[in-house]
Amino acid sequence: MTQPALSHDAAPNFHSAFAADVRAGLTHTPQKELPSKYLYDEVGSALFEVITVLPEYGVTRAEEHLLAKHATDIVEHFPHDLTVAELGSGSGRKTRRILEALCKKRPTSYCPIEISRSALQLCRRELGDIERISIVGYGRDYLAGLAEVSKKREANDRLLVLFLGSTIGNFCRLAATRFLRDIRNMLKPGDALLLGTDLIKPTPTLIAAYDDSVGVTASFNLNLLARINRELDGDFPLDAFEHVARFNPDAHSVEMHLRAKRDVMAHVGAAKLTVMMKAGETIWTESSHKYRAEEMAAIAHDASFECSHQWIEDKWGFAESLLVAR
Ligand code: TRP
Repeated sequence: MTQPALSHDAAPNFHSAFAADVRAGLTHTPQKELPSKYLYDEVGSALFEVITVLPEYGVTRAEEHLLAKHATDIVEHFPHDLTVAELGSGSGRKTRRILEALCKKRPTSYCPIEISRSALQLCRRELGDIERISIVGYGRDYLAGLAEVSKKREANDRLLVLFLGSTIGNFCRLAATRFLRDIRNMLKPGDALLLGTDLIKPTPTLIAAYDDSVGVTASFNLNLLARINRELDGDFPLDAFEHVARFNPDAHSVEMHLRAKRDVMAHVGAAKLTVMMKAGETIWTESSHKYRAEEMAAIAHDASFECSHQWIEDKWGFAESLLVAR
């Protein structure tokens, strides 16, 4: 790595927040649930990297293709000095093209905001060699991290927020607009958000993307229970659960669940919790909402942005939208 990399670490009481969230989610009725952000520990992040190269999961490839093809074009929209903040950078691989195009024009600060420490490290390793980049990682939740980046940026810098990988799809539609509004509130007019969204496509294609034939996605999902066992003194019998991906036609979303194959009783020591599940009962771990490209303009407007440009990949079906703060 050529650049010194600073880090602002996550709050120290993270584990008790994890315990509290597990307790709240697994006592939730009628549907047990677990917050998806806990999927991304070191094992989960590594498994997710594998998901991004699976033949069935076209999302990352489509987006990489778009960003590689249009990086220069996208960067043209920013003739000013820029601070770039990325929400959930992952390994940083798909961001490389944009950062290279920006740094070719002028030195650029890049602030990945990422709750997974291992992903932050990967990202620094992946992108640290770009000339004239300075990387400062934030081991925080998105909004807390963004608030800090926005506060610390140079007075003359515009802020470009990257929210890629269709992570916006992991919010339900209402929460997605609310989240965009929260982002907007930390920006000044003229700042921008580059938003990646996966588009609506035939159901079998979608289901395969979230339930691949080698079982990586299943392992990724099951790792959440394994993580609870590891970190919160749990005793979930992993062999009693299976990964399920199903399409919800009303919400236009793929829902991921962990389904009990038989009656299960488990304990989570750190959450002072006993969990009882009937055979067939599920824990909902994630949803991935799909959009039509045309919807983005209205959603942007509701959140006080203007959708100034869109780049579409037709083969898989993915949109990159540039939303400018009004
Ligand atoms: N943001 C990704 C998506 O919705 C996350 C993801 C991909 C995911 N595969 C998954 C989340 C499987 C849970 C389970 O496409």
